[in-house]
Amino acid sequence: MRLAVALAGLVLVAACDTGTTQRDDVSSTRVVQRPYVPVPPGTIARGAAAQNAALAPPGPEVSPDLVARGEERFRAFCSPCHGLSGRGDGTVVSRGFPPPPSYHEERLRALSPEQIVGVITHGRGRMFPYADRVLPEDRWAIAHYVKRLQAEDGAPPRQGAMSP
Ligand code: HEC
Repeated sequence: MRLAVALAGLVLVAACDTGTTQRDDVSSTRVVQRPYVPVPPGTIARGAAAQNAALAPPGPEVSPDLVARGEERFRAFCSPCHGLSGRGDGTVVSRGFPPPPSYHEERLRALSPEQIVGVITHGRGRMFPYADRVLPEDRWAIAHYVKRLQAEDGAPPRQGAMSP
């Protein structure tokens, strides 16, 4: 009787082993085919590789839509400190926050869109990074809007009067 149980056990173990090997054989020869799924427009790319790709210069093509998006994002995320015209006179500053430098200073006028994207991503001095709140594409949009503000001497571009 004992022997029978032991034998049965052996047979079971052996059966399991064969099963595993067979499964391995099968899965290693199976070709995994993933259907091609087109990325729907407006999809937000996630993951480090996608983020880096989106941050790589020269960034998205400058268009009136991009600059308009930048204006909207700038008003939401940057103007509280930098002011609507970028002179460093936002509402937070009037409540005691250290004033940022004016975008219209010579040194900041010389910043490239790429450098502005870098400031948004990594912060600078007393300014916190905004990487967790502003999407890479939107950082480019904001950077181009800041360049536009500088070119227009702080007068917010008139709607419809923006050329790419
Ligand atoms: C909470 C206030 C605050 C907000 C919001 C803010 N900034 Fe700043 N920013 C600052 C301060 C303060 C400095 C000066 C930092 C320093 O030199 O210590 C600064 C500096 C900068 C500079 C100049 C960097 C340099 O080279 O000296 C740029 C460009 C800039 N900010 C862009 C932005 C953009 C774009 C946004 C919106 C995404 C933004 N900031 C949001 C406070 C802010």
